[in-house]
Formats: sequence, structure tokens, C-alpha cells
Amino acid sequence: MNFELTEEQKMIRDSARDFAWRELLPDVLERDANCIYPARHVRRLAELGFLGMNISPEWGGGGMDNISYAIAIEEISKCDSSVAVILAVHNSLDCYGIECYGTDQQKEKFLRPLATGEKIGAFLLSEPEAGSDATSQHTMAVDHGDHYVINGVKNWITSADKGSTYLLFAQTNPELKSRGINALIVDRHSPGISLGPHEDKMGMRSSDTHSVMFTDVIVPKENRIGEDGFGFKFAMKLLEGGRIGIAAQALGIAEGAYERALKYSKERKAFGTQIINHQAIAFKIAEMATRIEAARHLVYKAAWLKDNNLPYGMESAMAKLCATDTAMWVTTEAVQIHGGYGYVKEYHVERLMREAKLTQIYEGTSEIQHIIISRAVLKH
Ligand code: CAA
Repeated sequence: MNFELTEEQKMIRDSARDFAWRELLPDVLERDANCIYPARHVRRLAELGFLGMNISPEWGGGGMDNISYAIAIEEISKCDSSVAVILAVHNSLDCYGIECYGTDQQKEKFLRPLATGEKIGAFLLSEPEAGSDATSQHTMAVDHGDHYVINGVKNWITSADKGSTYLLFAQTNPELKSRGINALIVDRHSPGISLGPHEDKMGMRSSDTHSVMFTDVIVPKENRIGEDGFGFKFAMKLLEGGRIGIAAQALGIAEGAYERALKYSKERKAFGTQIINHQAIAFKIAEMATRIEAARHLVYKAAWLKDNNLPYGMESAMAKLCATDTAMWVTTEAVQIHGGYGYVKEYHVERLMREAKLTQIYEGTSEIQHIIISRAVLKH
């Protein structure tokens, strides 16, 4: 067993870290306060090769492994999780989905511009009445021979506006339940698509999140991924990998809060000494470091399994469950260590705490991870 990162993984870590601290951090508070989309920073992600980083060079990607991907998300999340979630949805849902299950024609037309960062991807599964219960799709994709006609509403869609390539899930044969769902690649600018207002979120406020309404939107059948009815299984497969990205994001948020709390506790004096010298603080720091290390092992292990073509559905759910709970706990304690300073924007830990909360909710709540893990454990 080798826990050392490769030279390439270290280079990616250093590049992501440099980008995060030099380019994301300086104006993250302004973006967070005013819900400003990080357009310039997303363009930089493309220049740095992070968009499409796991995609084969044959399709314009970087050909990097999933551990590198997790590390890039982790480093970026220390400074700005809004950028990290745009990257995560784009890479692990859209790019990966089309590369693994798309036809060559779909890859040429849709994957290449995603892999080079010319276009950004969005993943449209959730609905007003189908969040955790993803099989209950109400959006309809009615079969008209050579095309589908889409009607319905999708909710909480990351990159709904700025993304231009949608992976849409919709029901074609309701009597077949989950086996009637199809996955379609849809151009965001197709006639009949409209957006709800920008969601005024508690955290990750600068990634663009909207509802998306479909009214008689025509999608050619050649845009369907896989066989008729493959959509739900496809979504589940993608979410297995997507959860590695969100777990890595939570890990980065926890680390960002931990590093700030450690620094602060070495500087701040109370009762005649730096507060790190008080056991009440030192023990919190020790607990933070331990939980983060445990979460990191789960996240990298799930990424390693994926890299080695081994099953990783249970492990990615475990990684997400552990890392997101760790992020919530560590960020809350980081605010506590900062006292009153932790409760204001300038020290970043209150923002990280708001961001941590979302990681426990999206790409499957903690409760959903418990369902996935318990089913897998009972099957063994
Ligand atoms: N891989 C392949 N197939 C799978 C699968 C997997 N991981 N999981 C389930 N399936 C298959 C099952 O085998 C079954 O197939 P058959 O009908 O052939 O037997 C079918 O899918 C239905 O599965 P279940 O009976 O297990 O379905 P369920 O209704 O019990 O739901 C669930 C399972 C795990 C709870 C699922 O609904 C789920 O993951 N829910 C959470 C959805 C989610 O994470 N949404 C996130 C939205 S995306 C997002 O947040 C992105 C963003 O913008 C940040």
C-alpha cells in the first residue's frame, strides 16, 4: 500500500493550490456577498486544464486520474467552493457521463467542447417533487419517432444559466418507473427552455443555481445516452463518481477551516498565552486533524478504486458521508475557536460553515448515503 502522491499528483495539487490562494481568495468575499458568478475564474480553470481533466486526450481532455481530480477539488474548496462545484458537476457528471456512455458522434459534438472548457455542463435530475426520490421523475420526454418533446421543471440546477450543455433526465414510459427514464443531451439555448430566478443560497452563493422550465422542447433522439430506459441507471452511476467530487469538496472546506483555526489559535492570546496553549483549544485542533485525516483516506480510496476500475459506489457514499459531516463539524468548531471574529465575514470560517452545510445536502443527502451504504453492507 502506497500513500505517497505521484509527482504528477503533487504538481496538480500545487497548481490548484496556487490558483486557489492567489486568484480565488482575493475576491471570494465580494462574490459571496453579491452572488457574482466567477466567470473569469472558470475561464482560468480551462486554461489550467482542470475542465475535462479526466477525459482522454483523444477527446480534448487532460487524461488525469481521479485522485488528481479529488485533490484539485480539495485545494480549490479551501478558498472557494462555488468554483469547486462548477468544476465537480462539469467533470464528474457531464464529461465523465458522455465519455463513458456516449456514442463517438456525441463525444465529437458535445464532449470535446466540454473537455476543452469551451462549454460548461449541467446535470438536470432533481425536480420540485423528486429530490432524494429520484425515480419519481415528472418531467416527460415523449417519444415522437426521431425526437423527444420535453415538458417539465427541474430544480436546484448548478450552472443552469452559464452551462450550455445539459444532461437532462426525463420520464418516457411512466408505467416502467425507473426503467422508463431517459437521459438526453440538451442545448441550454434550445427553444422552450426558460430559467427561474437565481437561487439566493445560504452558501456557495456565486455558483449559478436556478430552476429550469421545459415547454415543448424538441430534442433529437440521437442525443439520448444509451438504450431506451437507461437514464436512471446512468444517473446512479454518475452520482457514484459525483460523490467523490463532493466528498473532496467537503474535505477541502474542512481543511480550509482547520488551517485558519490553527493559525488563529497560535496568534490569539487570552488568559496570558496563545489560546492553542489551552487544552480546550488544543484538543479541538487535535480532533479536527484526526477527523480530516480519516475523511481524506476515504476520499482518496474511493478515487483510487475508480481509477482501478473497481466498484466504488459504497465507498464514494462513505467518503461523502464522512467528509461532509467532518466539514460541518470542523467548520462549526473553527467558528467557535475564532469567537466573535468567527462570526464575521473577514475570517472566512463562517462562509466555510455555510458551504459545508450544502455538501450534506446535494448529490444525495447524508440520509441517502446511509441508504446506499446500508443496502451495500446488507448485500455482502
Ligand atoms: N448503479 C446502477 N444501477 C443502479 C444504481 C447504481 N448505483 N443504483 C440503483 N440502480 C438501479 C437498480 O438496480 C434498479 O434497477 P432495476 O429496476 O433494473 O432493478 C433501479 O436503478 C432503481 O433502483 P432502486 O430501486 O434502488 O431505486 P430507489 O428508488 O430505491 O432509489 C436512491 C435509490 C439511491 C435512493 C436514489 O434515488 C438516489 O440516489 N437518490 C438521490 C438522488 C441524488 O443524489 N440527487 C442529487 C441531484 S444531482 C446534484 O445535486 C448535482 C448538483 O447540481 C450539485
